[in-house]
Amino acid sequence: MSLLTLGIESSCDETSAAVVADGRVVLSDVIASSLEFHKQYGGVVPEIASRKHAEVIDSVIDKAMKDAGVTPADIDCVGVTRGPGLIGALLVGVSAAKTLAYVWDRPLVPVHHLEGHISANYIESPELEPPFTCLVVSGGHSHIVRVPEYGKFRILGRTRDDAAGEAFDKIARALGLGYPGGPVIDREAKLGDPHAIRFPETHFPDSLDFSFSGIKTAVLNYLNNTRARGGEVNISDVCASFQFAVVDVLSENLIAAAEQTGDKKIALAGGVAANSALREAVERKANKKGLKVYRPSPILCTDNAAMIASAAFYAAKNGRYAGSDLNAVANWSLEDL
Ligand code: KG4
Ligand code: ZN
Repeated sequence: MSLLTLGIESSCDETSAAVVADGRVVLSDVIASSLEFHKQYGGVVPEIASRKHAEVIDSVIDKAMKDAGVTPADIDCVGVTRGPGLIGALLVGVSAAKTLAYVWDRPLVPVHHLEGHISANYIESPELEPPFTCLVVSGGHSHIVRVPEYGKFRILGRTRDDAAGEAFDKIARALGLGYPGGPVIDREAKLGDPHAIRFPETHFPDSLDFSFSGIKTAVLNYLNNTRARGGEVNISDVCASFQFAVVDVLSENLIAAAEQTGDKKIALAGGVAANSALREAVERKANKKGLKVYRPSPILCTDNAAMIASAAFYAAKNGRYAGSDLNAVANWSLEDL
């Protein structure tokens, strides 16, 4: 008999609930985004995000249950993103999950948001099992993570300043392309020449860490200097060249990490994993090294609750449960799981 997990995600601007069977089969995945209310501010406004979560969370959960064709009696456990994320936003999901777990008398499982992103790979690749090495790149985090077994994580590299998604968002803003920046830069870059402008890449010797502040400054300087000279900025070329440099570092470090761990399986996760150039570069470099690449489809790369329900299934197997005193946490290391 299948074990059904209800997952709840509210760490940023997506309110999401999903029902997943055995950590792998999605029966429903409802995502309500408050993005349109943040766009005019050029980024997510925490206060607005919390308010929108509170407005829609009940109906999102109801719809997830209906879409899956299940009743509370069918649900075996409730998983929720406990952190990291916007504290007010997280609290809405955690409160809802605690209430349901109490009323339905089901176990409550705290999930790390990045563990969720990594678990999105289990959904679309039923054959994927740990150990593997994963590049987790989102709006708030850029990590290279080794997954030695289900629900356990070791960080091999991390950003020393901006997250990769944050760099995409900042450059898009400087180019007047709106928020979020990743998808629009991805599209614009297809029309440009990735070798038109040479932006600097940061590689640290003997380290798998990242830094994106140098390239961000280089792009901003390029834009200011070109405009000051009265020159024309070719937006597509800037997008393609910026994206090329970021993707190059991300993919190089991921392949280097796999060489270190000896894993033959590598995975991509997080919003930036939806990037088409990153997917191509990783595939190309991995093929040369005989590595197998796993990556969720774009809709499972960005925030959703199916990935949280999947992660909760494996966390529950490890006996990771919480009581009704569970609290949301804005900062939480994957290595503390
Ligand atoms: O994982 P996610 O949905 O939320 C966080 O946990 O942060 O990631 C959102 C980030 C944003 O910075 C967005 O610009 C970026 O992912 N993103 C992309 C693409 N789609 C979303 N970045 C590059 N290329 C994309 N196609
Ligand atoms: Zn995320």
